[in-house]
This record gives sequence, structure tokens and C-alpha cells, in this order.
Amino acid sequence: MPELSVVIVAADNEQRTVLQVLVDGTSVARTVHTCASFPVAATDPVARRVRAANPDVTLVDIPADNPPLALRAIELLRQEMPDSAVFAIGNLNQPQIIVNAMRAGAREFIERPTTTTDLLEAFVRLTAAQRRVRQEGPRGKVFAVVNAKGGSGATTVAVNLALALQSAHGQTALVDLAPLGHAALHLNVKPVFSVADATRNLHRMDSSLLESFMTRHSGGLQLMAGANVPAAIDPSTAEFVRLFDMLVTHYRYVVVDLSTRFDACSRLIANLSECVLLVACADVASLWSAARVQQYLGETGSRERVRLVLNRFRKVPGFSEADAETAAGAKLLWRVPNQYFAVSTAIDRGTPLMEQSHTELARCFAGLANELTRNDADTKRAAWSLFKTV
Ligand SMILES: Nc1ncnc2c1ncn2[C@@H]1O[C@H](COP(=O)(O)OP(=O)(O)OP(=O)(O)O)[C@@H](O)[C@H]1O
Ligand SMILES: [Mg+2]
Repeated sequence: MPELSVVIVAADNEQRTVLQVLVDGTSVARTVHTCASFPVAATDPVARRVRAANPDVTLVDIPADNPPLALRAIELLRQEMPDSAVFAIGNLNQPQIIVNAMRAGAREFIERPTTTTDLLEAFVRLTAAQRRVRQEGPRGKVFAVVNAKGGSGATTVAVNLALALQSAHGQTALVDLAPLGHAALHLNVKPVFSVADATRNLHRMDSSLLESFMTRHSGGLQLMAGANVPAAIDPSTAEFVRLFDMLVTHYRYVVVDLSTRFDACSRLIANLSECVLLVACADVASLWSAARVQQYLGETGSRERVRLVLNRFRKVPGFSEADAETAAGAKLLWRVPNQYFAVSTAIDRGTPLMEQSHTELARCFAGLANELTRNDADTKRAAWSLFKTV
């Protein structure tokens, strides 16, 4: 492993000294510069000195008395040095700060007081991920599926969207985070491991261990199965962030079934997602619930990413799609037709709708996958035609 150069930004003198000793103690990284104040603008002397040091990693210590200053510094450093990683150091019992640090662009959130082992593991993960990115391309996208209320169709949408993405692009994973996971039943697979096993083993997770926790479906879709007894999976925010960091390094698309889950976990996953699909039916109770869920997720910053999926859709005279959007407080992304017999038979037999090609529902989910990856496909085409003309 090549030696990593590290800049430490910490306002507290003692913490700065401790971090330097710990970094140099990992023997895979070396402190090249330390700063006692946070950079606040691209042109200020602190930012200039950090840029001049050209570090592989900048450690930013988030002070308990002024987190926003450190969070702004993380954002600035990521903007100014997109190829250099930022690790945030802070208190693990402040989930919102962890989420904000990750959203600002921190790659890792490391607990204070920090140990050499914590830092060493984070440096190893960074080097391994960089190696994979060099080999396999950029990080994947997360699509979360939530329901407005129980039974709205979140699992049906998540399973068939994941199958559609797998069939169109490959390298897709489905992660079942429902309190009692149904995805394995929909896919008719028998998982040996579940999300709980993966989160219990995060401290030693690498790509081959991640793969061993997945259950492969016949078409290649990889399922990280949910709980098969009603149990709260409640890993810490930092553990979830780490798990999803692994998943997006490994898979191009990660679909998450968040059926009937309204907690810190669903808010965190919504924050990490490219798009949150809020599945609701076009009745008053469902749309009322959808508006509440939208508001709940919106409180932690996911508002603009939440899009409405109207399930069991059929035209009702006097009720327009605009009415549904207004009632739910979210823009309409897709409609899934009401076909009770086809959907319930698919679930009962374990033959997902996407496997019954040439049906209206299979076309519907293929269309949804296409809509969500429209820009990705464009990028791919552009790159290909560029290659052809060279
Ligand atoms: N498009 C549809 N047309 C008709 N019936 C549907 C449709 N989608 C789902 N259903 C029915 O609704 C039931 C619930 O679907 P599903 O399990 O996907 O919902 P969920 O939101 O994940 O529920 P849970 O709260 O149990 O997690 C299914 O058993 C199926 O019979
Ligand atoms: Mg479900």
C-alpha cells in the first residue's frame, strides 16, 4: 500500500497533536501539514496551504461547540480538491452531524477519541476503494423505496425495479431493510445471511465478504436479505454509512426496500439516495400518509429527492394526477397499473413480474428503470460515440 499524505485540520491544540501521533503511528500514512483553523473561503491562506500540501486525505476534527464551521470547511475542501478524501472526526452520538458531514462530502466519519486502528482501517478502505474505482469505474447510485402506508406496494416496486435495472445494466443489488423482509419470498430465494450479518461484520468487511452475504437470483440480481423474524435492525448511523459506502463501490445500482420503516435509518438511506420512490395508492388515506412521510423525510433534507409512485393506478373521473401530487406534496414519477391477479400470483409463486416479459407490468417496471437511469445512459452513449470518432 503506498504511503498516504495527510493534512490535519483541528482547532484544539491537544487534539491536533494526538491526531498527528495517531496518523504517523499507522505507518501507512504521514502527516504533511497541520492547521489550527478551518478554511472558510477558497482564497484564504489556510485553504491555500492545504491545497499546496496536496494531501491524499484531510482529517477535519468537528468541534462540539461549532460543527457548522467544520462542515463548511469539509464542503470547501471537497470542492477545491475533488481528488482528495476528507475524513471527519467527531462524536458518534450525534447522528445529524454524521449525516451532514457525509453530505458535505466526508468519506469516513471516525469516532473521537480516535485510535490508530480506526485510522488504519479507514486508510486501508480508502486505498482499496480507490483501487476498485480505477479498475471498475465510478460509484453506484442508491434508489430507496418507501411506502406511504403498509401494503401500498413498496416491496413489489423495489423487487421489480431491481430486476429491471439488473436486466438493463447488470451489477445491481437489492437491500431489504424492512422490519420483516419479504423480498426473498418475492424472488423465491433462500438466503443464508441477512443485513444483520453484514452489519455485525462491518469491521472486517471487504468485497469478498460483502459478496458472501448476498444471495444471487437467477438473472444475476444480488439480494442482501432482510430479517426473517420480526426484529429491529438498528446499526448505528456510521455503520449504515459504511455498509452503503461498500455497496456503492461494488454495485452500479443499489435498490433499498424500506417498507414500513420510519426511523433514523430510513431518513439516513433517503439522504444517501439519488431518488426516494414514495409508493402510494390514489385514495385519501394513502395520499394523506404520503404527505406525512414526505414531510418526515424532508425534515432531514431529502425533500427534493422524494418522488411519488402511484400504485394500483386506474383513472378515476374527477381525480387528476395533479390532485395526487398536491395531496402527497411530491412530484409524480411513475404509475403502476392495478392488476391484482397478476401481482398477487407473482408473489405467491415467487415468479416476479419482471420475469413475465411482454406483460404490461414488466414494461411498466422496465420503463421506470429507464426513467431513473436516463442520464446515466446518455453519458454512456456519449462516451461510446466519442471513442468511435477518435
Ligand atoms: N400494482 C398492483 N396491483 C394490484 N395489487 C397490487 C399491486 N401492487 C401490489 N399489490 C398487492 O398489494 C399487496 C402488498 O404489496 P407489497 O407487499 O409490495 O406492499 P408493501 O408496501 O411492501 O407492504 P408491507 O407494508 O407489507 O411491506 C400485494 O400482496 C399485492 O397483492
Ligand atoms: Mg414490503
